[in-house]
Amino acid sequence: MRICRLLGAFAALCIPPIAFASGNPDRGAQAFRACAGCHSLVGGDHRTGLSLAAVYGRRAGTAEGFHRYSDALRKSTAVWNEQTLDWLRDPVAFIPGNALAYQGLPDATMRSDLVAYLRAVSEGKAAALKTPALPDLKTVEAGQRVKAIGHCGDTYRVTLGNGARYPFWEFNLRFKTDSSAHGPRKGEPVIVGAGMGGDRAQVVFAAPEEISVFIRNECP
Ligand code: HEC
Repeated sequence: MRICRLLGAFAALCIPPIAFASGNPDRGAQAFRACAGCHSLVGGDHRTGLSLAAVYGRRAGTAEGFHRYSDALRKSTAVWNEQTLDWLRDPVAFIPGNALAYQGLPDATMRSDLVAYLRAVSEGKAAALKTPALPDLKTVEAGQRVKAIGHCGDTYRVTLGNGARYPFWEFNLRFKTDSSAHGPRKGEPVIVGAGMGGDRAQVVFAAPEEISVFIRNECP
């Protein structure tokens, strides 16, 4: 309206207010699969991205307990609603410097469906799509529990709770931590990943300080 007034005689050039058609939340639940690799809809369940359980109506960069916001998002004053969530068309252009490694959702119908779904979930009117549960590393079998790790030359030898021992080329064994409720017990690392007989795996510890003290320099 303001633009019309400013243009005066050229009122025919009025720019119409941007319309945001209300989307279909059922279809939006399907579209959410594009986000589910990084985002959960369960409150407090932060993964690569934060939980989107109550994102609608909340200020950007303020999900409690999410520690990986970029400065760009933390300093943004945007509040997430139909208009601002349209940033999903091109997240990089909307808030430059944000860390959402997502190329954008070019389809306008899909975007408005998705936003309708996020709104319905935030308002408790639609069920949260289940994201795959993380494995509970506290209750694994003996064959997944790591008893000892020896390092010799370019090789790690991993001894498991069932007595089995596997050699890995050092470049193929990853060390990770999981301090969440799903993570392993203190001092009881767990091996997961590419099959016990496979050539690649990851050993998950409860905390970073456990890693180097656990690994002994020893040759068979
Ligand atoms: C590759 C992982 C990844 C994918 C896929 C992804 N996101 Fe994100 N998302 C993130 C990360 C990481 C952040 C935090 C970005 C930052 O701090 O700059 C984020 C931030 C957001 C935010 C801002 C939240 C806030 O609290 O301000 C919204 C909204 C969002 N994502 C929605 C979506 C939707 C909807 C999809 C699917 C269409 C999606 N994201 C896909 C990782 C992802």
